[in-house]
Amino acid sequence: MEFKAVIFDLDGVLVFTDKYHFLAWKKIADELDIPFDEKDNDRLRGVGRAESLDIILEKYTGEELSSEKKAELLERKNDIYKEQLKNMSPSDVTDDVRNTLKKLHERGYLLSVGSSSKNTAYILERTDLGKYFDAVADGTHITRTKPDPEVFLKAAEFLKVEPEDCLVIEDADAGIEAAIAAGMHSAAIGPARQRGRAEACIGKISDILSL
Ligand code: BG6
Ligand code: MG
Repeated sequence: MEFKAVIFDLDGVLVFTDKYHFLAWKKIADELDIPFDEKDNDRLRGVGRAESLDIILEKYTGEELSSEKKAELLERKNDIYKEQLKNMSPSDVTDDVRNTLKKLHERGYLLSVGSSSKNTAYILERTDLGKYFDAVADGTHITRTKPDPEVFLKAAEFLKVEPEDCLVIEDADAGIEAAIAAGMHSAAIGPARQRGRAEACIGKISDILSL
């Protein structure tokens, strides 16, 4: 595979914050008596906060929720999630991730984060991951979240590279679809491997070094 830049999704790829997203949504879903398990949670991977709530509410059978109530739920989900993020530290990043980022940089690849999350800057700071990246494109830069390609196209723009020279690493189906829509190469890790839409599948981040 030929590429000049690698764009990494954050949650579930560089760090395991996907489990904190799940726990926070689970609390909200339980309050509303909505069935919600890890499989349901896979549909939320890569998808924005408000869009995630809409997906969870598909199984809601109670009385109609006002937009104020929905806004309150979104704020509370984020508060619960951020409470968990406070405990994160550089030790939450595996050696495999850190060594791979260093090696890719040494080999001359440009590196960016491409995440739907508005908490990206905070997570990069808590884990001391920011220093490895030439650019960061996240939920604060976009109006449409994955599967829309906007965040990856932003990353390419920030890096000043063409989309076809980028490789996207994703754990989300929505993220793989976004990469395809952006005209980029894609590699799936974790749950995104199942649908087989990505150009390559990897078991661990360092597998990128031999793509
Ligand atoms: C993505 C996660 O990275 O960011 C989604 O995979 C999440 O689960 C989305 O909903 C938005 O994140 P945040 O931190 O802005 O709520
Ligand atoms: Mg992800």
